[in-house]
Amino acid sequence: MARIGQATVAAPANIAFMKYWGNADHALRIPRHNSLSMNVTGAVTTTTVEFDDTFSGDSVTIDGELITGGEADRVSAFLDHVRRLTNTNHFAKVTSQNSFPRGAGIASSASAFAALALASVTALGLEWSNEQLSALARLGSGSASRSIPDGFVEWHAGSDHDSSHAVSLFPAEHWAIVDLITIVQSGAKEVGSTQGHQLADTSPLYEARVTSVPDRLDTMKKALAAKDWQTFGELVESESYSLHAIMMTSHPGILYWSPATVRVLLAVAQWRKEGVLAYCTIDAGANVHVLCQEADVARVKERLEALEGVERVIEGRPTHGARVIE
Ligand code: PMV
Repeated sequence: MARIGQATVAAPANIAFMKYWGNADHALRIPRHNSLSMNVTGAVTTTTVEFDDTFSGDSVTIDGELITGGEADRVSAFLDHVRRLTNTNHFAKVTSQNSFPRGAGIASSASAFAALALASVTALGLEWSNEQLSALARLGSGSASRSIPDGFVEWHAGSDHDSSHAVSLFPAEHWAIVDLITIVQSGAKEVGSTQGHQLADTSPLYEARVTSVPDRLDTMKKALAAKDWQTFGELVESESYSLHAIMMTSHPGILYWSPATVRVLLAVAQWRKEGVLAYCTIDAGANVHVLCQEADVARVKERLEALEGVERVIEGRPTHGARVIE
């Protein structure tokens, strides 16, 4: 055996408050506009990467299962980027474990590619800046760029590979927002986000969305800095509707919601009328992220679990970005 190096990294998923949807450059995953997110506990990927010059190909094991086909190809294509950017030609053995059940309907690509990026670079004995690591993670999955820096994060769209990376705005301790990840559909979604990004600009509403992002992002960042919960929550929920309006009006249109999604949206709106200030945000799927403050977690969670069609509720709290653990 001629081992080149090995490293193990844990990386969190993140929930976007200002969403990423649509690319200026699809191959490099350079987005049309900035986005903003919070890293969350509750959905973590731990990945070991081992480079060895006796390996004759890459191998990928996820949650104990040797992976082949499209998913393995995507990992290998990412490792090709690593090899190109680091001038190496060794193959890798990738072993990955998710803290949440596979196929639970929680996006795992952000935590997965952030962990893979940091583990690959570390296994090769290199020390890269967070900006470089974030740009690298982006090549696997755009939102993975935001799981590298700590806490509350902004991804600067940039204009080329190096300038399109995420930075930390505030550490995780800044604000104890709780993300109640409400699972209403645990199967795989029909339209993956890579395909969704390619459809974005077929929506007649898309240019208006892109134009409106800078102002809305500015207001959101101010509410985040001031910890103004109501302003922040209302902006986040309305931003999620803006995203889904684009999805629904693309050609072909994408409707990610299920009846239980709508049930959660309506219930949360009703609870707000009763004084419980929770807000919803939805990514490219049917599951709803219900955001609330720590004091409301127990009652909001209990009410969510009682709704028809809710399979489970996972608690996510703000956390740091990807970290080397071994
Ligand atoms: O990173 P991707 O290509 O899986 O895209 C993520 C898209 C959304 O989850 C819908 C929004 C976001 O910013 O995370």
